[in-house]
Amino acid sequence: MQSPNKSSYISSKLLRYTLAGASVITLIVSVGVAAQSAPMPKYGEPVTEEDLANWNIDIRTPDSAGLPAGSGSVDEGKVVYDNSCASCHGANADGGPVYGAMYGGVGSFMTDKRKLTIGSMYPFPGILFDYVKRAMPMDAAQSLTDDEVYAVSAYLFHLNDLVPADAVLDAKSLSEIEMPNRDGFIVDDRPDAAVERCMKDCPPINSSS
Ligand code: HEC
Repeated sequence: MQSPNKSSYISSKLLRYTLAGASVITLIVSVGVAAQSAPMPKYGEPVTEEDLANWNIDIRTPDSAGLPAGSGSVDEGKVVYDNSCASCHGANADGGPVYGAMYGGVGSFMTDKRKLTIGSMYPFPGILFDYVKRAMPMDAAQSLTDDEVYAVSAYLFHLNDLVPADAVLDAKSLSEIEMPNRDGFIVDDRPDAAVERCMKDCPPINSSS
């Protein structure tokens, strides 16, 4: 192979520096021009429904309103679980390095030997979907598709004996699961929980009106 000609090497390097210098100058000039003609900062634009959809993922607790389209089976859920959950929650949700078993303990919620699991604690089925979609896997939250969340929910409900092994869950079938602890909570009767939400022309905080 021919060795590179030293002088042409140097001159091409020089040329590159010159070009780089020129573009830095161009950049400074154009930034200066942009700064002069740019509109003054404003408060921004109204958020669109489309933008909001990325945040609007909550499931309303008592009736599971807000569950998305999609579905998943117990079998598919086991695959999702083994890949994305077992490292922290243990094989078969038996409990792992950071969290105990996620099934069993039904009836223990009201005793002093509480075993807090999906089956023993959650009063409504939509809570599981909401929680997993929002927060799990803890090291990669919101990385699962809706179908995968349905599937892993089906798997966990199955481990809690709440759906059969061949169950396929979607918005309707998931919301119809009757949770064993559905009567284990009372409605919050503290006065501030009953305050009507004000969205417009609201009275100042702490005023009695
Ligand atoms: C990196 C570790 C980690 C991974 C991976 C992970 N989790 Fe969790 N998970 C946690 C921790 C820690 C908690 C407890 C959080 C708390 O109590 O605030 C938790 C709590 C939960 C709970 C609540 C348990 C209960 O009894 O109420 C559920 C349900 C859950 N995880 C499901 C999942 C599913 C499904 C996956 C896989 C898609 C998953 N997790 C992956 C760490 C993890």
